[in-house]
Amino acid sequence: MYNIGFIGLGRMGQAICLRLLSHDIILRVYNRTPEKATKLLDKGAVWCNSPAELGAACDIIMLCLSGEQVTEALLTDSENGLLRHCHPGCMIIDTGTISPESATYNAHLTETQGQEYISCPVSGGVEGANNGTLAAIVAAQPAVRTIIESVISRFADRITWLTSHADAQKLKIINNLAESINLLGAFEVLNIGLTHGITLDELHSVLTTCRGRSAYMDVALRFLNSNLKPSDVSLAVRCKDLCLAGSLADISRHYPISDAAIELFSRVREKYGDEQDQCEYFNFINEEKKLNDN
Ligand SMILES: NC(=O)c1ccc[n+]([C@@H]2O[C@H](COP(=O)([O-])OP(=O)(O)OC[C@H]3O[C@@H](n4cnc5c(N)ncnc54)[C@H](OP(=O)(O)O)[C@@H]3O)[C@@H](O)[C@H]2O)c1
Repeated sequence: MYNIGFIGLGRMGQAICLRLLSHDIILRVYNRTPEKATKLLDKGAVWCNSPAELGAACDIIMLCLSGEQVTEALLTDSENGLLRHCHPGCMIIDTGTISPESATYNAHLTETQGQEYISCPVSGGVEGANNGTLAAIVAAQPAVRTIIESVISRFADRITWLTSHADAQKLKIINNLAESINLLGAFEVLNIGLTHGITLDELHSVLTTCRGRSAYMDVALRFLNSNLKPSDVSLAVRCKDLCLAGSLADISRHYPISDAAIELFSRVREKYGDEQDQCEYFNFINEEKKLNDN
């Protein structure tokens, strides 16, 4: 029986933890803001006072943090850093989306300490975590796959196995770029339809059955249908992902649609702030229309 810990109880981290707890897994948790652990503690999670305390008590540690600087600091901090406190053989499963370079660096650093780093970026949103239907892109040595699969399969029902940490993150970044483009397109066509007097029900009926459909069309329709229910992806996370995509290729020179997605989401973030949901793009379109009409 492995002792499992989880650090990073934001939108996605909490959802994955709830899913693990629903499988009766004993889970130690830590988050910079302790209040975010309340719901998990009610469900039986065990609070640790620091990453060091959690690291020393666990064999498998999962991370779900906002970005690579935070992740690297958590691993290497001279006082509380995980790598100082985890025992040899400990497995660190990082579910965050970070740059290929940072993932490769983390894997190298972890290996030199006799521990194992597993890149495990996930896709499918908070809803996918709740239902156990996330897709995971996992870079791990063959020797540890069976063990980590027994944990990952509690919240993900599709796993793509790789050996390169850089490739796992590149695939995830490309997927996120597709999501971003799809979401912008979905909101634009829905806005055009509504402007032309077509009802949301009619749009829903056509755009979930004809070839205009996509996973992010579903997200956009759900946002409009259920009183603007957020998609649980903040503008900060969306822009972080797009910034990673921007560094993958010379996007501004060669890829006009990707370039427009980066520019548009950065304007939406500037207007509404880091913590607002990515679906604010719909309100952004309406406000820009008003400005242009005046
Ligand atoms: N949301 C999604 O649907 C989704 C889907 C797939 C992948 N992901 C990936 O999952 C990761 C987390 O995303 P999220 O949506 O859960 O983001 P989030 O809600 O903003 O949570 C971010 C987490 O990082 C922690 N954090 C931020 N800055 C920190 C710092 N300086 N020191 C310590 N901890 C810090 C936060 O702690 P505090 O609570 O203290 O702020 C929180 O636990 C990202 O890499 C994202 O790309 C998210």
